Amino acid sequence: MALVGSAPAHEGWSSRTAFVLAAIGSAVGLGNLVRFPAEAGANGGGAFVLFYVGCVVLIGLPILLSETLIGRHGQSAAPESYRKLAQESGASTAWEAAAGLGVLSAFLILGFYCVIGGWVLHYAWLFLSDIFVSGLGGGAFAGVPFAEVEGIFPAMIGSGWLTVSLDIVFLILTFFFVVRGVSGGIEVAAVWLMPAFFVLLLGITIYGAVDSGLKDTLDYMLTFEPEKLTGPVMLAAVGQAFFSLSLGVAGMVTYGAYVGRNVNLAKTSSIIAAADTSVALVAGLCIFPIVFAAGLAPNGGLGLMFQTLPHAFQEMTAGALIGFAFFVMVGFAALTSSVAMMEVPTAWLMEKFKFTRAFSTAIVFIGAGILGVLSALSTGVLGDFHPLGFVWLFEGMGMMDTLDTFTSRLTMPVGALLTAVFVGWFADRRLIDSENGLSGGLHLFWRFLVAWLCPLALTAILIVGLFPELLGS
Ligand code: ALA
Repeated sequence: MALVGSAPAHEGWSSRTAFVLAAIGSAVGLGNLVRFPAEAGANGGGAFVLFYVGCVVLIGLPILLSETLIGRHGQSAAPESYRKLAQESGASTAWEAAAGLGVLSAFLILGFYCVIGGWVLHYAWLFLSDIFVSGLGGGAFAGVPFAEVEGIFPAMIGSGWLTVSLDIVFLILTFFFVVRGVSGGIEVAAVWLMPAFFVLLLGITIYGAVDSGLKDTLDYMLTFEPEKLTGPVMLAAVGQAFFSLSLGVAGMVTYGAYVGRNVNLAKTSSIIAAADTSVALVAGLCIFPIVFAAGLAPNGGLGLMFQTLPHAFQEMTAGALIGFAFFVMVGFAALTSSVAMMEVPTAWLMEKFKFTRAFSTAIVFIGAGILGVLSALSTGVLGDFHPLGFVWLFEGMGMMDTLDTFTSRLTMPVGALLTAVFVGWFADRRLIDSENGLSGGLHLFWRFLVAWLCPLALTAILIVGLFPELLGS
């Protein structure tokens, strides 16, 4: 097998729809399904939702458009696209460091994201097997005490061989799509898995609403409590908007490079942001009716997905089937996000070193596999290994939390901040204007947001992320 090829022939999406679905697939993931609904409920309901939507429109969307337009203009892997635009603008080519940080972030996130993806697979398998044990009519895990169902999670993450195997399986699934290229693999994942995801999300949401009603959920998620919108909550909302839209990880730059010249980027970016935000909102309407109907508390984070929900499925009619459908749905969302994160460093290796796609994907697979094994073991035998424990921000953190914190608090916000400053102040305006698909007042407004509001908001996120005690969080 040849490891080094000629410069990769430039690949592209076969249609605008394929690009939009792939970008939505990259954006919609665990962030929408696990983090957003719980944060909204706990932090001010309708006030949080309104503020979040404001963050998406005023800060997320302008950066999303900036990233896709840099990619489309450069038609290259992310660092090279930044370099080209900088060169053509007469600016320093050091701006490519912004994309370099994005590539690093995508690779590091891939390392721990696949571990959680593996956990999701395990739960899908547990519910599928349970259909044959508990049957279709009643709840899942019939006759099993709740404490035992709750105990599946700590037992799973504490078992080294199990979490490592699950991580590798999820990584292999991701590899399978990325190694086949843009139209032959990544696009196939998006075009099949995303529609299936939407059908499952709507199906489970409607079933939950009919089975148990939406009232408690609407009260929980939408009751307007502006007093809960404190400084730390607002910054968490901006950070969540960034994570959810997959910004600052060079993913949208990489996917943007495969987009044809005839596509209106302002329009497609708006569709992507609207779809991502809608999924986050609908996820709440999907999850909480099931939780409330079982009389459980709407706690957040991983406990919600891996402990509270399985318990709630015990109480639900056709619980095993719905539980299986739910975890398959989450798995699809996570897989299309991990595919995007694997593509970013793969495209960079192909371009930088002229490696073939197969060899580049294999390198990323092995690197992410090593990070994944260390992350998977960090919830068990390697719990006392704190790779960056000597730095204040990472004290007491295992590999998985270290990777999460390093990317979400440092490399992603810095990368996005540099992108906003680059596009807002240093890139040639005519080149930018010819790509962005905006005109008139909207165009001026976008320029204002990219040049002023985004850098200010990102600087605030960065400072508070690095020095959380500043806001008492
Ligand atoms: N944007 C992806 C998510 O929300 C990474 O999970």
